[in-house]
Amino acid sequence: MAKQEDTFKKVISHAKEYGYIFGSSEIYDGLSAVYDYGQNGAELKKNIREYWWKSMVQMHQNIVGLDASIFMHPTTWKASGHVDAFNDPLIDNKDSKKRYRADVLIEDYAEKILQKAQKEIKKAAKRFGDAFNEDEFKATNPRVLKYLADHKAILSRMGSSLEKEDLADVKLLIEELGIADPDTGSKNWTDVRQFNLMFGTKLGASAETATDLFLRPETAQGIFVNFLNVQKTGRMKIPFGIAQTGKAFRNEIVARQFIFRMREFEQMEMQFFVRPGEEIKYYEYWKKTRLKWHLSLGLGDENYRFHDHDKLAHYANAAADIEFNFPFGFKELEGIHSRTDFDLKAHEEFSGKKLQYFDHELNKNYTPYVVETSVGLDRMFLAVFSKSLQEETLEDGSSRTVLKLPAVLAPVKAAILPLVKKDGLPELAQQIIGNLKWNFNVAYDEKDAVGRRYRRQDANGTPFCITVDHDSLKDQTVTIRDRDTMKQERVSINSLERILEERTSFKSWLAKL
Ligand code: GAP
Repeated sequence: MAKQEDTFKKVISHAKEYGYIFGSSEIYDGLSAVYDYGQNGAELKKNIREYWWKSMVQMHQNIVGLDASIFMHPTTWKASGHVDAFNDPLIDNKDSKKRYRADVLIEDYAEKILQKAQKEIKKAAKRFGDAFNEDEFKATNPRVLKYLADHKAILSRMGSSLEKEDLADVKLLIEELGIADPDTGSKNWTDVRQFNLMFGTKLGASAETATDLFLRPETAQGIFVNFLNVQKTGRMKIPFGIAQTGKAFRNEIVARQFIFRMREFEQMEMQFFVRPGEEIKYYEYWKKTRLKWHLSLGLGDENYRFHDHDKLAHYANAAADIEFNFPFGFKELEGIHSRTDFDLKAHEEFSGKKLQYFDHELNKNYTPYVVETSVGLDRMFLAVFSKSLQEETLEDGSSRTVLKLPAVLAPVKAAILPLVKKDGLPELAQQIIGNLKWNFNVAYDEKDAVGRRYRRQDANGTPFCITVDHDSLKDQTVTIRDRDTMKQERVSINSLERILEERTSFKSWLAKL
């Protein structure tokens, strides 16, 4: 646990030191769970967004984009169920005055029990070596059986109490389990209450006439209400998708873990409209396709897993998360949901307008079913950044900090370094920049010895360093150093554009998908 916390602290401080993420309005001591992306962060975020957009929209002839407003007619949120049901159960500790999500307190408690079971399994695997049969051990070892049963019983009681809105039982469960305030150890709890996560605001010049609005808590509803606009004007045939990226706002009770859970964040969502009855086929397709997209970034296949939902929201008939191994353990990165015709039907009912599709092949009208893929851009950023940050011990015993960002996402693709600040080397370096800058974000660095400059670019996440030396003036060649292998090749200046294109462009990375 201490190691995880250490790693996470390093991620946060590195993000700040290298201009990736700053606390919001820091000069006024910041604002809780709100962050600003710095010069490198803005580029990394833009590249993640573009990698997603291109793979979803540009690579699929039947998916188009949309950019809907953050403000929407207030009835939207009545129809979507957010006004009545977008709640989290909160509980306050009377001594520490701290506020928690009651379900998260219980889930964390259950997770610890699961970890105890996993510890037993690990110990036994070590003891029995090759002869170890994990399934048999889990099915027969009394201690493991008890841990697993307790874990299941706690989560299922919490699930059914929340479903029944029996908040008194949620509190009773916290008391029965002896769950204490994680910060102070106090068990002096208030009752559990529901808390709506939407931020309210007002539209209009005077208090009397102003309309109450909400900042959108998800981008998806902008897609649903525009479903027919896009279908008709784009002459889209089912199955087809509408994709959108944009800000969403949630008044999270406990916003923590840096940019993992924020109050203002960005989502990348796609709604795929299908014939009723075909939704599970497409749900399986999108589960596979989205996982493949994540794996293409090369952050390690072992860092992803699916979590299929046992308890489904009332509008879903299948749902899964893609979880990622963050510095604080496996947590949700993306959700894939088969949302049936719930949203379109609800908007039809509340607006009185038909949101149906005429299927020429079937010669009939119907409300399409929807499969949704929804990933947080900030959460993607944290996944990519935290896994890329590595501390390496080199052959000579020294160590280096290196940010092994996937080259396609790196803010700066190459740094151009004149070996010395004289003899015409800076001028040649600038000429190279002049040629490359049209297609690539490149940087110039002439300060300090070249070894120090390499280290600086390693920590900054720049995949390539191009060094201009005295031979470059004679034969028009340079060295190109790879951040990850630290290997250097001598190449002609003319070939630099092709090399960077092959190794860093969206085209070459998307082609591998
Ligand atoms: N339209 C479906 C929807 O919004 P969700 O599971 O609530 O589903 C989708 O959110 C994704 O948005 C999550 O998987 C996560 O990546 C991201 N997300 C949700 N709440 C967030 C928050 N408070 N801060 C950062 N990202 C968040």
